[in-house]
Amino acid sequence: MKNYTSIADIDDLEGIIREARSLKIQNPESKVGTGKTLGMLFFNPSLRTRLSTEKAAKLLGMEVMVMNVGTDGWALEFEDGAVMNSDKAEHIKEAAAVLSQYCDIIAVRAFPELKDRKKDEAEQVMNSFMKYASVPIVNLESATGHPLQALADAITINEFNTAKKPKVVLSWAPHPKALPQSVANSFVEMMQRLEVDLVITNPEGYDLAPNIRKNTKVEHDQEKAFEDADFVYVKNWSSYENYGEVLNIQKNWTVNQEKLKNSKNVKVMHCLPVRRNVVIADDVLDSEKSIVIQQANNRTFAAQVVLKRILECAK
Ligand code: CP
Repeated sequence: MKNYTSIADIDDLEGIIREARSLKIQNPESKVGTGKTLGMLFFNPSLRTRLSTEKAAKLLGMEVMVMNVGTDGWALEFEDGAVMNSDKAEHIKEAAAVLSQYCDIIAVRAFPELKDRKKDEAEQVMNSFMKYASVPIVNLESATGHPLQALADAITINEFNTAKKPKVVLSWAPHPKALPQSVANSFVEMMQRLEVDLVITNPEGYDLAPNIRKNTKVEHDQEKAFEDADFVYVKNWSSYENYGEVLNIQKNWTVNQEKLKNSKNVKVMHCLPVRRNVVIADDVLDSEKSIVIQQANNRTFAAQVVLKRILECAK
């Protein structure tokens, strides 16, 4: 694996899930990351991604440097040919090239602005690092995807699944703020590659991008979608159609025990952070149905297997 910017960078999905689960059981003696440095750049806040990726790198023997670009570093210019006479002090051309002198892998988190769909879909930040850095790039959540989260999700479903072909439901849920579609996008792309029966449920106006949905079934009746589900993955996202907007939804889409009454053995997932009693009710999060903590734990092994494969490829 040369980079990990989208799940398309995984060519053997079953193999990488197997390897992650084996790393989880037994941390290998040989440290492929000894003498190597991971640089992590955050344009946005993080708890899980930051700490699990740092832990993963250290388990491989790597050194880790973290920078909150928005507050610690110079404001970066990404436009080619820009006349830099305002607030942006450093161009990505120099920044990425210099970081490549200090780091063996650069990992970047950069959320979308959710104002201009075309601009967000161009993935300017991630693609600029890909273009101007001379070392591998890892996506820590970009404008349109969160591939490390999706790999952790696949590992978690693999661990908890007892069905031959599990029914997996991705459910939209309310949120007071406009959130990216990144987690939902990568989750759908990941599930489309696995032996699962995937259903997306969301209110009208919240359909994900057509190039993400492809032929996946979209059910606008949430309770119908939940019938006999093995896994319900709950996540808010802002409208794709009315790009970046939070629409006025009449029905209550918060996931609670009552809604899960027809899916007896269901496991409930969420990438976290989760707003209790807005996105998912306490009666679900505090029940045995919830596997959100186990899911968050798997972020470490998803990151570890990705960093390991990149280091092995660069040898
Ligand atoms: N799920 C996830 O990416 O969490 P953080 O935003 O805390 O990193």
